[in-house]
Amino acid sequence: MRHNQRLDRIVLGLLLTLPSVAHADEQVRQPGLVPYLVSGDGIAAPLTTTPGDPQRGQAIVAGRTQGNCLTCHRAPIPNEDFQGQIGPDLRGVGRRLSLARLRLRVVDARRQSPDSVMPPFYRTGDAVQVAPAQAETPLLTAQQVEDVVSYLASLTETSP
Ligand code: HEC
Repeated sequence: MRHNQRLDRIVLGLLLTLPSVAHADEQVRQPGLVPYLVSGDGIAAPLTTTPGDPQRGQAIVAGRTQGNCLTCHRAPIPNEDFQGQIGPDLRGVGRRLSLARLRLRVVDARRQSPDSVMPPFYRTGDAVQVAPAQAETPLLTAQQVEDVVSYLASLTETSP
């Protein structure tokens, strides 16, 4: 009897831990977007077959309409005087974070930190803190996400 109870407890314990293990890998499908797999704290596979272009990525990061990253971040982009301090300095981020983590961060920062003030750049289907027009169109296309990720990966120097 005792043994059975202990066994029950072990089985119950296993059942309770299973969902959280399964949660580590999550296939994400959203209307109009390329599906992607979140493994742990990253997205390992590129969203597109065309590799990202770091120069185009830099233009998106510096641009004040789409990425608007410099509202919150500092990056080694000359002639951009108004750079933000809400988020971490992006210099050296290519050394600090893997491609997979950079990709998840740009795609949807809130998957990792639910309270993040950084907007999700590749998400649709909900209107939470996003203007209604953006509920159906992501802020960046899949290719632009890859461009930004390749630019971020190139930021391996912490100065200037
Ligand atoms: C509204 C402010 C805001 C905007 C806009 C924003 N971010 Fe962020 N970002 C943050 C904050 C704050 C963090 C710190 C962690 C957190 O709170 O999510 C962060 C973290 C990051 C990180 C991780 C840095 C590290 O060292 O861990 C990367 C990479 C990043 N942002 C890239 C970008 C890029 C690229 C863009 C534009 C496409 C962007 N962010 C736009 C606020 C912002």
